[in-house]
Amino acid sequence: MRKNIVAGNWKMNMTLPEGVALAKELNEKLKSAETNCDVIIAPPFTHLASIVAVVDTNRIKVAAQTCSNKVSGAFTGEVSPDMVKSTGATAVILGHSERRQFFGVTDEQVKEKVDLVIERGMTPIVCIGENLEQREKGIYFDVIGTQVKKALFHLNPDDFRKVILAYEPVWAIGTGKTATAEQAEEVHSFVRKLIASQYGTQVADDTTILYGGSCKPSNARELFSQPDVDGGLIGGASLKADDFMGIITAF
Ligand code: 13P
Repeated sequence: MRKNIVAGNWKMNMTLPEGVALAKELNEKLKSAETNCDVIIAPPFTHLASIVAVVDTNRIKVAAQTCSNKVSGAFTGEVSPDMVKSTGATAVILGHSERRQFFGVTDEQVKEKVDLVIERGMTPIVCIGENLEQREKGIYFDVIGTQVKKALFHLNPDDFRKVILAYEPVWAIGTGKTATAEQAEEVHSFVRKLIASQYGTQVADDTTILYGGSCKPSNARELFSQPDVDGGLIGGASLKADDFMGIITAF
């Protein structure tokens, strides 16, 4: 059985004191909430260890927003998978469209990062998604299929089972323009079939596929009600505890 997950990607927001305060607030609210999903938060690197220290990590998993594809060495400014792991974080977002778009991350690098993150016993949350031009040209299945195959299809079935996928249409990120539930379901079901073609239906059925892109309390329920949408990767609405809780309790 696959897990439902709501994950918050804080991106480059929140100072350390602000981030710790938000994590504590969320931790408190979750103590008394009835929920039906796992919760992950992905603060900036600088906050990871402090946040791991103040949340119940059985209840809230802490993730990094990226990591290096290198193990160690002269790579000024990079943060290695071992460094992430040493903070107590247990997952890493990889291949986010903002990393691909602004920092030139390639499918090949995402693949290398996936391997290192799995080797370190952490969970890769791998982002895929088309931009507006690709959507309008009608080539989004090709784009997404290529991203999935290049980053993940070298994995053996046991390792593939450790991966969480996140479909994030670039045109819906931070734009307030959410994909409709039908648009999300169309892609999620396509991705699940692609996984089935490589790993079989059992692995495909067990894979969590999140939706990301302007997901908020008002639209989460409809998105999450789709058969192949197993939760969300939330940007803006994860920065306020009440909004994030509104999405978590949408399940
Ligand atoms: P928004 O929810 O702000 O659109 O961001 C989505 C996202 O990129 C999460 O990784």
